[in-house]
Amino acid sequence: MRTERTQQTRGVEQARTRDGFASSIGAFAATLGSAVGLGNIWKFPYLTGSNGGGAFVLVYLGSVFLVGLPILVAEHLIGRKTRLNAIHAYGSIVPKAKYWSLIGWAGFLSAIFIMAFYTDVSGWVFAYIFKAIAVAFTGGVLNVETFASLAGGTWEPLLWQFLVLCLTTTIIASGVSRGIERVTKTLMPILLVLLILCDIRALTLPGAFAGVTYLFKPDFSKLTGGAILTALGLSFFKLSLGMGTMTTYGSYMPESTKIVPNATRVALADTVVSLLAGLAIFPAVFAFGESPAGGPGLLFNIMPLIFSKMPLGSLFTVIFFILSAIATMGAMLSLVEVPVSWMVEKGKMKRPVAAYLTGAMMFALGILATLSQGATLGNVKIIGKNFFDLFDFLSSNVLLPIGGFAIAILTGWLLKKQAIVNELEKGYGDGKKPGYIQLVYIFIKYVSPVVIFVIILNGFGIV
Ligand code: PHE
Repeated sequence: MRTERTQQTRGVEQARTRDGFASSIGAFAATLGSAVGLGNIWKFPYLTGSNGGGAFVLVYLGSVFLVGLPILVAEHLIGRKTRLNAIHAYGSIVPKAKYWSLIGWAGFLSAIFIMAFYTDVSGWVFAYIFKAIAVAFTGGVLNVETFASLAGGTWEPLLWQFLVLCLTTTIIASGVSRGIERVTKTLMPILLVLLILCDIRALTLPGAFAGVTYLFKPDFSKLTGGAILTALGLSFFKLSLGMGTMTTYGSYMPESTKIVPNATRVALADTVVSLLAGLAIFPAVFAFGESPAGGPGLLFNIMPLIFSKMPLGSLFTVIFFILSAIATMGAMLSLVEVPVSWMVEKGKMKRPVAAYLTGAMMFALGILATLSQGATLGNVKIIGKNFFDLFDFLSSNVLLPIGGFAIAILTGWLLKKQAIVNELEKGYGDGKKPGYIQLVYIFIKYVSPVVIFVIILNGFGIV
């Protein structure tokens, strides 16, 4: 009883002193900033390429809108209702059932697993900025060997990973979320324009149409249970779901933000960016006679190739990787924020200490992920996967779907329906209550958990 009251008091005090997004536009930009990242320009294309194309894309789209979107709404509403970091939010949302904080703890773990490989890839993106600049001056090329030697190296990728982590944790340490928000808000549109430029270039290459067909024409014979689970995991990874990121961001949202329309816009915008990335990469892959199943190196091998065929190509390559690097920052900041917000709000740690400690944990696992791409640890396999793939698998295919399932059950079955409706009706003028809230509720309560459950069983070969 006493702890409950103390917790409530703490919640109220924090709501007063807590930082938050200043406006609904800011909330939208930050949420989209967390969603858009390597998932769109790196993971979506390479997973689509390795899982047979169109059918995978269709399952992915289905899982974004039928499963991901309702859970995005659920996370935002739990965050805003409690105004706490993810671990405390899930620990206090159901009275006398603190064990739900396990969702927050699993999120803590996922954040570290994801960052272990995310910072490796982000390091490649940063390295490519400088490689592209060098090529612009010396007139060389960025080819398959360039990527293989970077990813498979030892000190070079580790150094980049370390720098990426230093940058991210320093920004988090200084707490300049406003600055970052503003930067991403300005640069996102430029990323979009550049992507469209790449699309135009790629789509006008001779033989490009095979790539469009590959992306949009489903061939269901290529779909396995594992691929469906991967598509579900990708939709969670894409929308930063199932691990408390969007709960934390929900806790920073102003009361005036209409949660359902905001989440819908984020899901739509994020999906458009992924499809645009696919439309830049696959037509070029087919036009140059490459294989779509190129794995994690797809982006790094194909993008410089596209640009090398256009005027001012090296300049565009540099700009493209700078913008990609910025896109990865928005996502990484939100990943680091999950453990940090808890450490800070627990009241025992200064923000910089929390940030650097989180960074150190991420780097420790990150070293394993990075070295597993080369000769040093390439042969170490756990359940048939190297560290990089293992961390990716554990987070995207295991922790995030299970986390999402738990969030849907908690919201749909344990919270009072009226409390949910009240939260979702905030931001509308009197008498203008939207009708679709009932529908969203049905999705959170029935559709999302059932679909996730079946896909998880199916992915592990149980049904
Ligand atoms: N959504 C980010 C991306 O697509 C990755 C991410 C996952 C960010 C989970 C936060 C939490 O790149």
